[in-house]
Amino acid sequence: MQLSNMDVFSSTDQADNLRRIIHPRPLKIIAISSGKGGVGKTNVSINLALAMAKQGKEVMVLDGDLGLANIDVLLGLTTEYDLSHVISGERTLEEIIVDGPENIKIIPASSGINEMANLTPSQQMGLINAFSDLGHAIDVLIVDTGAGLSDTVTNFCKASQDVVVVVHDEPASITDAYAFMKVMSRKHNVNRFHVLANMANNASEGSALFKKLTKATDRFLDVILSFLGTVPYDEKLRKSVQHQRAVVEAFPRSPSALAFKRISRQINNWPVDTLSSEGHSSGELKFFVERIIQLEMVVTNITQATSLNTVIPQQEACG
Ligand SMILES: Nc1ncnc2c1ncn2[C@@H]1O[C@H](COP(=O)(O)OP(=O)(O)O)[C@@H](O)[C@H]1O
Ligand SMILES: [Mg+2]
Repeated sequence: MQLSNMDVFSSTDQADNLRRIIHPRPLKIIAISSGKGGVGKTNVSINLALAMAKQGKEVMVLDGDLGLANIDVLLGLTTEYDLSHVISGERTLEEIIVDGPENIKIIPASSGINEMANLTPSQQMGLINAFSDLGHAIDVLIVDTGAGLSDTVTNFCKASQDVVVVVHDEPASITDAYAFMKVMSRKHNVNRFHVLANMANNASEGSALFKKLTKATDRFLDVILSFLGTVPYDEKLRKSVQHQRAVVEAFPRSPSALAFKRISRQINNWPVDTLSSEGHSSGELKFFVERIIQLEMVVTNITQATSLNTVIPQQEACG
């Protein structure tokens, strides 16, 4: 029997797919969130991504924040297209991915994210297939979510294996982080959070902040918090932002860069959960995207975004 080119391609594809099903590459998916904006999420996302890449991991970052200081700006990269162009069919996923330092891959997603809720079934399939056909092998996907509790943020957190909450030691940041965890646990069944204290004056101030937060959550919420560590306030980080570079690249020996490296080593030791509750391999990007799309559809049918200001009664106020 003679095989045509098409047959050869399709049998190779099938073998690849089979291999992926049998040995899915374990993938950590980490959402970086916070109650309040401006506490350092984007800096945490890029610096952890770069620190992990330096430690030998293949890292991808999904820029899901609709804010202004996006990952491309902070890294001095130019992005022309984003996920909305993939959804409209103007560009392929490969074409919108931007290479960052240390070979990290960045998916500019911000303007495409809101469209995920209104995809036709064929657009949904197109997007899911685009992610499952992605040629890059990835160990870690870091999702820079927006601040607060928009549907997109809650969906990213629900679809990720681990949620990091970035907190700064000031009343608004602590109260908003508390409100964020309250809504995520009560309304969305996400109960485990890793707390990162950013811009602290020293390590003991970071752990004091964590204690303050757990005192309130232990009393009123059914959540498990673990302390990921402290990133100190660092002028070198500010300087890096001005020069559109990540501090781990620009000032690798600075206090914040050393903290990012320490935290990323800790994250590398987290177990990779390859089975989601549905019995799928959550190690595949495809399932992450599927979950986002399905969650977006459910959410648009039933809810409005929750305002952080409305969720804490007086007696729960912490800070
Ligand atoms: N550890 C830090 N030390 C000093 N300044 C910081 C630190 N982390 C963040 N910043 C400052 O806070 C600003 C906001 O950070 P960013 O990562 O854009 O926050 P977010 O993504 O949460 O809005 C940055 O431009 C930077 O100047
Ligand atoms: Mg940001």
